[in-house]
Amino acid sequence: MIPFLSLKDVTALHGEEINEAVSRVVNGGWYLLGKENEQFERHYSEFIGCRHTIGCANGLDALTLILRAYKEMGVMNEGDEVIVPANTYIASILAITENRLKPILIEPKYETLEIDDSLIESAITPRTKALMIVHLYGRNAYTDKIGSICKAHNLKLIEDCAQSHGCRHSDGRMTGSIGDAAGHSFYPGKNLGALGDGGAVTTNDTELATVVRTLANYGSQQKYIFQYAGRNSRLDEIQAAVLDVKLKYLSEDNAHRQMIARYYYEHISNPLVTLPSLLPDAQNVYHLFPILCPRRDELLHHLSEHGIQTLIHYPIPPHKQECYSEEQWNTPHLSFPITEQIAQEELSLPIGPTITSEEAEMVVKGVNSFR
Ligand SMILES: Cc1ncc(COP(=O)(O)O)c(C=O)c1O
Repeated sequence: MIPFLSLKDVTALHGEEINEAVSRVVNGGWYLLGKENEQFERHYSEFIGCRHTIGCANGLDALTLILRAYKEMGVMNEGDEVIVPANTYIASILAITENRLKPILIEPKYETLEIDDSLIESAITPRTKALMIVHLYGRNAYTDKIGSICKAHNLKLIEDCAQSHGCRHSDGRMTGSIGDAAGHSFYPGKNLGALGDGGAVTTNDTELATVVRTLANYGSQQKYIFQYAGRNSRLDEIQAAVLDVKLKYLSEDNAHRQMIARYYYEHISNPLVTLPSLLPDAQNVYHLFPILCPRRDELLHHLSEHGIQTLIHYPIPPHKQECYSEEQWNTPHLSFPITEQIAQEELSLPIGPTITSEEAEMVVKGVNSFR
């Protein structure tokens, strides 16, 4: 059986150092807001190439805190619009609706699966305050056109980096340093994953960083003085220590993913399967390896019979979810045929830092033998 991703094996890759880090915190007796956090935040800022990292409880909180901070700063008000890709994990959109802002969904390109930048400008209204891009599947979603649109229309550019640790834009900038602010998730299965939940905000904006940190600490900068009605969202010391170990190996782990992905691109040759357009290595860290097949469910079954575990990202797009009513979405943007097609055709093949060449070979054989 080839598992989609064995977290046990991923942890074992750097098991000794991780165990040492966990023991250090356990025996040190300081579990929240301590030097492990400070160190990880400093190292993560260096890695991303930004001024500030603020650790928080998870990726959804990171995105939610950014938008909440912009509201506190008077940059946005309830009811303002945030443009966001329709093809994303629902957390990108939950962060917007939780702040009583309005998500304006934009279709992806079928070839890239990422937001179609030619559709953004026509969706801008006087109430549009931000564009949230999502580097989904580990692919860079930023384009120079996106940068120009944000500048021309004075929009905040927010990056959802939950799936893109270590991925760069073609000009060399790391995702997480390109926009005004970025939300990161350290959910265990991510390219940089903790042993539980974790997240971070990165930004070069010192005021935003201060407000985010304050909001994540109940709204307090000074003990028992509450400037905002905030929340409790912290990255605990054990997770920070684990992440600091894993950060050292992230580029190596991503290079392994890229090697496996190259093998898939070179050897998958089934005409029933479409691969997303190929990007240069630095621009895709292959958090996932999505393929598209109109007979996806049959392919999934076929692979499963060959001992290959696959997952779907994602079977029901956010605009079709029960939690949102149709009125939630702007009528002209209610139809998202490409997003819906991707939801019906997408299948993610096993990829990760522990997949072997032999396993990749079996995956290719499994895909190519599907008729
Ligand atoms: C694109 C995207 N955004 C946001 C999140 C939310 O991250 P978390 O699970 O840490 O809350 C995820 C993670 O699952 C994600 O894939």
